[in-house]
Amino acid sequence: MRKRLIAGNWKMHGSVSQVKSLITGIQQGAQSYSTIDILVLPTFVHLSLVHDLLQSTAIKLGAQDLYPGAQGAFTGAVSGPMLIDIGCQYVLIGHSERRTIFHENLDLVAAKFKAAISAQLFPILCVGETNDERKQGETEAIIEEQLESVIRLVGIHAFQHAIIAYEPVWAIGTGLTATPEQAQAVHAFIRKLIANNQVDIAKTIRILYGGSVKADNARALFAMPDIDGGLIGGASLDANQFLNICEASCTK
Ligand code: 13P
Repeated sequence: MRKRLIAGNWKMHGSVSQVKSLITGIQQGAQSYSTIDILVLPTFVHLSLVHDLLQSTAIKLGAQDLYPGAQGAFTGAVSGPMLIDIGCQYVLIGHSERRTIFHENLDLVAAKFKAAISAQLFPILCVGETNDERKQGETEAIIEEQLESVIRLVGIHAFQHAIIAYEPVWAIGTGLTATPEQAQAVHAFIRKLIANNQVDIAKTIRILYGGSVKADNARALFAMPDIDGGLIGGASLDANQFLNICEASCTK
């Protein structure tokens, strides 16, 4: 049985006071959900603060990005070993906003995944198609390319320590959600791709759904057999909404 994971991707949001009250709110309710993993992904500048606030809670900490390499002349960048040093366990890799706004190509995403594994962080590899790609019937080809480019560089065994997030680009921040059936179909396809490489990893790897997950659609999504939790954007910035999504993931 795969343990559910609910992850809050805060993106570029939050002030010190907002972060403090959000963590206070989440941790007050989170104790009721000990059967799942709960993860928050603040901005780099808030990681240390959130790490301190999360002491003596079971809530896990991750970053939204990293740069390959341990250290060096890469102005503005943050490395995997730095994230480990500050107390992170997880890192998002290849979020669609990184791929589009920051022009991250398949090779850079794969290099970042490799850097996360080398630093002993758990990468959460984000994959997903745009609206146009879905309309053209290219969803599976796009997902396959995004996944295979990473497998080619790191090998399938690295996925023992990884998580995959399916985030259809057309559902991110738009209020449009994939139907549970649409999401399940892609999750099953991703699991099949992994199984083609290694059956045991396919059985254990967690595949999250992301894209306008809210308290009122979460239960139906999480009821799908290959959906193991959620990567939550907007709704993770409100403690009550985030906790309601955690609640929805506790029951099949
Ligand atoms: P929204 O939940 O705001 O659609 O964002 C999803 C997302 O991009 C999480 O990484």
